[in-house]
Amino acid sequence: MNLILLGAPGAGKGTQAQRLAEELGLQHLSTGDILRKAVKSGTDLGAKAKGFMDAGELVPDRIIMEIIAERFNEDGGEEGYVFDGFPRTIPQAQALDELMVEFGLHLRAAVNISVAEEELINRLTGRRVCRSCGETYHMVYSPPSRLGLCNRCGGELMQRSDDTEETVRNRLEVYYRQTEPLLNYYEQKGLLENVSGDGSIEEVFSRVIGAVRG
Ligand code: AP5
Repeated sequence: MNLILLGAPGAGKGTQAQRLAEELGLQHLSTGDILRKAVKSGTDLGAKAKGFMDAGELVPDRIIMEIIAERFNEDGGEEGYVFDGFPRTIPQAQALDELMVEFGLHLRAAVNISVAEEELINRLTGRRVCRSCGETYHMVYSPPSRLGLCNRCGGELMQRSDDTEETVRNRLEVYYRQTEPLLNYYEQKGLLENVSGDGSIEEVFSRVIGAVRG
């Protein structure tokens, strides 16, 4: 089974994708996580992506599709993927369609998680991430047990460089302009499932899994 999670920055795609992958035995494929790892390790990919990410702009489609094709070639997609933060533009969605045909894979659903804009800003500016293992927290909604430290590995928590209010507002603009048209793209294919992202992480998860299982 292959799934796409759609939604604005902060809608909870990463949070829900991780749970879905565990529940359904799928691979969680987050282009944002892959790019942040590349920036942290100082690779060529990281150097190309950093400026776009810090400004809240999208990394060019060609670079993103190289990452995805490499991943498909490495593992063949046999376990199935939960795509998180990808595709982000119509050309990325079209390129994914072609790759899936090439690898004999099928898309079960594109689940769109919707959340009001003020709540998106609250979620992103309050997000903290573990520097060591990447676990995500929120200062108010899901705080760590010990201030500034990860529950899972004890690592130091940090704020993502693109989670400042100014960059968050630009990321939302970019989302409305370049990514929101994907809702229509998947609706026309009969694959779109809309779920509300309001409520607790567990409440949203039961809606998402309900939409996937039909
Ligand atoms: P990416 O990492 O994909 O960021 P994003 O789409 O902006 O999404 P976020 O990770 O910010 O939010 P999310 O929806 O995953 O929410 P989360 O679950 O963390 O991309 C970053 C950058 O990389 C892009 O700007 C771009 O430059 C580049 N990039 C990546 N992919 C690309 C692509 N395909 N093409 C081009 N460029 C690309 O939750 C947010 C917070 O809310 C957390 O603190 C969480 O704990 C909390 N929370 C979650 N759910 C709930 C809930 N139900 N109630 C309360 N709090 C909640």
